Amino acid sequence: MTPGQPPHEIAFTLNGKPFTATVDNGTSLMEVLREQAGLISPKNGCAPQGSCGCCTVLVDGRALSSCVVPAGKVEHKHVLTLEGFEPRERHIFAHAFSVAGGLQCGFCIPGIVVAAKHLIDAHPDPTRRQIAEALNNHICRCTGYVKIVDAIDLAARALRGEPLPPADYSGRIGSSLPRQDAERFVLGEQPYVDDLKMEGMLYGAFLFSAHPRARVRRIDTSDAASQPGVARVVTAADVPGERYQGLIYKDWPLFVAAGEVTHCIGDILAAVVADTDRHARQALEHIRVEYETLPGVFSPEQALTPGAPRVHPDHENLLSRSVIARGDVDATLAASAFVEKRTFTTQMIEHAFLEPEACIAVPGGWGFPTSPVGDVAGFVETSGVGAGDWGCEGRSDAIAESRLPRRSLRPSSQAKSGIPNPELVVFSQGQGVFDDRRQIASFLGLDESQVQVTLVSNGGAFGGKEDLSIQGQVALMAVLTARPVKATLTRDESIRLHPKRHPMTLTYTVGCDRHGHLTGLRARIVGDKGAFASVGTKVLERAAGHAAGPYRVPAVDIESLAVYTNNLPCGAMRGFGANQAAFAIESMLDILAERAGIDAWEMRWRNALDAGDTFCTGQVLEHAVGLKDTLLAVKDAYYGSPRAGIACGIKNVGIGNGMPEAGQAVVDVTADGRVVIHTGFTEMGQGFYTAMIQCLCDVTGLDPRLVRTQVDTAHPTPCGMTTASRATVLGGRAVQDAARQIRRDLGPGVGLIDLAGRRYYGEYRAGDTTPLGADVERPRTHMTYGFATQVCILDGHGRLESFVAAHDVGRVINRHMVEGQIEGAVHMGLGYALTEELKLVDGVPESFKLRSLGLIRARDMPDVKVILVESLDPEGPFGAKGVGEIGLVPTAGAVANALYRFDGVRRYALPMKDSAAARFMPGTRG
Ligand code: FES
Ligand code: FES
Repeated sequence: MTPGQPPHEIAFTLNGKPFTATVDNGTSLMEVLREQAGLISPKNGCAPQGSCGCCTVLVDGRALSSCVVPAGKVEHKHVLTLEGFEPRERHIFAHAFSVAGGLQCGFCIPGIVVAAKHLIDAHPDPTRRQIAEALNNHICRCTGYVKIVDAIDLAARALRGEPLPPADYSGRIGSSLPRQDAERFVLGEQPYVDDLKMEGMLYGAFLFSAHPRARVRRIDTSDAASQPGVARVVTAADVPGERYQGLIYKDWPLFVAAGEVTHCIGDILAAVVADTDRHARQALEHIRVEYETLPGVFSPEQALTPGAPRVHPDHENLLSRSVIARGDVDATLAASAFVEKRTFTTQMIEHAFLEPEACIAVPGGWGFPTSPVGDVAGFVETSGVGAGDWGCEGRSDAIAESRLPRRSLRPSSQAKSGIPNPELVVFSQGQGVFDDRRQIASFLGLDESQVQVTLVSNGGAFGGKEDLSIQGQVALMAVLTARPVKATLTRDESIRLHPKRHPMTLTYTVGCDRHGHLTGLRARIVGDKGAFASVGTKVLERAAGHAAGPYRVPAVDIESLAVYTNNLPCGAMRGFGANQAAFAIESMLDILAERAGIDAWEMRWRNALDAGDTFCTGQVLEHAVGLKDTLLAVKDAYYGSPRAGIACGIKNVGIGNGMPEAGQAVVDVTADGRVVIHTGFTEMGQGFYTAMIQCLCDVTGLDPRLVRTQVDTAHPTPCGMTTASRATVLGGRAVQDAARQIRRDLGPGVGLIDLAGRRYYGEYRAGDTTPLGADVERPRTHMTYGFATQVCILDGHGRLESFVAAHDVGRVINRHMVEGQIEGAVHMGLGYALTEELKLVDGVPESFKLRSLGLIRARDMPDVKVILVESLDPEGPFGAKGVGEIGLVPTAGAVANALYRFDGVRRYALPMKDSAAARFMPGTRG
């Protein structure tokens, strides 16, 4: 290929058949496969970075990332994608991953399956080490690789002729029912938003601010508007409703207007809608912006300096202050046998979910998008639209048409959902369809009833998809052009846009008596909020509430601050402030244990919370406090190695602190005798859908293969965000409620088909909680808590050797999924402890590369052993607690304490890159 080569045809063999593609010198093989061949198993996780492996295919037998292979290079070669595997191979891989629990969000899996075939073709009997090595070019952010390696091992055995174990379809609580649609995910057939298309669809792209803080003097879009294929250029001037949105504070402008000052480099200044993604992106380069750069504030210290520039003109840089005070800390510290004071710092990290943000908005009357593999399970039935209704009406391919004057939204003739005439349907992968809808409607100046948000498969989130990303802007583009519009962020753009984990500085003063019993704790915590509030006030509130860890501390004096800066915004991320606090308190416990002359396990045992004890927030824990059981579960592991570090963790389940919490479920029995559970919580790989099916089937005895779970705003299930490990508890209780009604109606001689057409409504409202610091005698800050103890064991060289995670999960609903949540969280926690960082210089990441984030690869993971402890919780369905977050709350503390035992160096800053454990993981360095 030569630079500037015009479009021309190339021929190659694709999945055994001749294929001709039209390419130019900028066309990648992945683009050809996805856009021209209509294949969706190669997923786009980071193109053109070549970092994630999601797009892996075989080219003449070599496993390559198709996003970095120029299409011209495959001329006359043989390309094999998952779609072209032999039927037996497809069946074996699909079944093996499904029964081994080898997938969560599923986005990484098709690429991994291609790598697995490549390995097994060469080594039919691979060792676990060989399997892990073969995944070196792949990232999975969900699983921690444990069950992926299990699945590949199982597939290799089956390909050698061994029988595959059957899937467990009992549907009972505690069984390992495969994830809903598992086999479709493994084969790459289950579409994510970016896999969907419809005729007449336009494509959106965004212009981000070039500077973290600058006055935007002028945005000139005239040249861009006349570029090839461009239908419309959109700016703040086009917004008909409220331009500023936000989950708690409306401080986030979805477009920054000319004349305003930018907040960070994630600010969007303009967007282009065009006939192709490429045309939209090319036109962006023709938008001219005049900036006046201004000094910014890039640390909380800078931001709190008197006279510092304000990030938001109408709000001081101190966004919030959370305080907890119980007892006389000065007196208890003065009377303590030992008192230590230390300061800890934690870093910003990136969620690195594998599926970048994508959205499709469809004006009423256009029908629904489809995928190249046909059925899009998940929203067909949800919307009440059968396969015969999938045609698009009023479509036109002529771009000129979309330049016609704005067509007003009209009632959809196809709208058959619970909402009368939704005039805009938004296909999202966000973490809360109802919060998305509220903000989209407000942004567009529409009534909420005019907008429907439907969840398409979510390729990972971890808190990073709680805020609106691009749903508002894409919805506006669809309204302005009266055409369906899709936009998908590149990895670089994704890193710019969504909130990160808060960096924090935590100064602790902690005392204990001569037996190691904690006496008093003072903590001062400052969090870098970045440019927008997001849910940061709650994150810092949670850091304060978890500052004392799962320990009895008679007197506490805690303050946490959330401070605006011009850095990328920070918000929700798995653990939600508890992780930062845990690193500090777990290090302090070991420091004090050493002073008191007792070992780290004993120190924790003497201080561990039990039923009847008072938590840091003042809440008396009444039941289901399984912390001591988790300590007992790891006792042998801890005492079995001189290089073992131990840490405990506590994590609230439910948002709490005064927020009302409820779950709802609408359960429909369909005409063909199937069951659909409608809920508002998001499935993002954590197994929520499957857990709901088990909650229903355990009560009713129904076959889980007859049941599926779906999410949209068309049903009255306005539960709020999928956050704070609460979806399983609230959703599960609501489903249980509905399931009992179904069981009552089923009976001798009455089968499911006899209930066809019936709808059941289940609901659960958690008891009230009290705001943090409320002046009440017996505060109840959260509905319940999860507990854990983890042990990190290093080898004689200081490398990670093994890791033991004992968790009080209340009750196991799905064993594979609970284990998988914890294994994946430990993987994330080890990265947080040792290697992960998104380093900013004056508000700009040093690198936007996924490869540079320090994510731990499969070959560098230690053996992870999960021990599940059950302490039935009356709050949860069947006694279950949420486990989505706590898996990494203690991890960094356990690693820090192990490192100290190995080399005698006490580390106060994350990530601990100087340690031998980190240095032995070269794969994490970009
Ligand atoms: S999309 Fe190709 S490696 Fe990530
Ligand atoms: S299952 Fe691997 S990234 Fe989600």
